Amino acid sequence: MLAYVAAVAKNKVIGKDNRLPWYLPNDLQFFRRKTLSGSKTMIMGRRTFESLPKVLPGRKHIIITQNKDYHVNDENVQVVHTIDDLMPYVDTEEEYFVIGGAKIFKMLFPYTQRMYITEIHEDFVGDTVFPDYEQAEWKVTEKKEGIIDEKNIYKHTFLTLDRI
Ligand SMILES: NC(=O)c1ccc[n+]([C@@H]2O[C@H](COP(=O)([O-])OP(=O)(O)OC[C@H]3O[C@@H](n4cnc5c(N)ncnc54)[C@H](OP(=O)(O)O)[C@@H]3O)[C@@H](O)[C@H]2O)c1
Repeated sequence: MLAYVAAVAKNKVIGKDNRLPWYLPNDLQFFRRKTLSGSKTMIMGRRTFESLPKVLPGRKHIIITQNKDYHVNDENVQVVHTIDDLMPYVDTEEEYFVIGGAKIFKMLFPYTQRMYITEIHEDFVGDTVFPDYEQAEWKVTEKKEGIIDEKNIYKHTFLTLDRI
């Protein structure tokens, strides 16, 4: 199954200038732990891949791009070109983690069954947003408040949502 992993501001912003608009190490830790579980496979858009500091250790990266000449010389990276190439990951028991960005979250929304959302309870200026969705179609199955400290200054909540 496809499982989204996203950090979303109160005003739905998720990115600015191809990076995250905030620094929240608690969320980076959550992201790391989650994507290192199960299939250890992350599906992402080309722009999100290029926003990463490097190929992330221990995880397979599936990158979608229209550019047929796009290659990444790393055994943990696979490049695909159409949404059909991602359909084998939809009807599986195991979770395949869709990690963004905005275009990919929007495109795959009908196919995702689960979302791990870190709600950040602040508005941020940005240029990319999480897609609007019908809340009544989702059930919160886990909810945990993040711990605020000197390095994690924004109030945040870790949510798991399952499609009803
Ligand atoms: N807060 C969060 O949780 C979070 C998570 C991830 C990303 N982000 C942020 O989101 C922003 C990036 O999002 P974005 O929407 O600009 O980019 P994106 O979704 O990461 O990537 C878009 C690219 O994916 C490829 N693509 C999209 N649809 C496709 C299709 N149908 N077929 C083939 N290729 C397709 C295209 O690549 P080509 O142009 O190469 O063809 C397109 O330019 C950044 O600011 C990033 O930091 C935030």
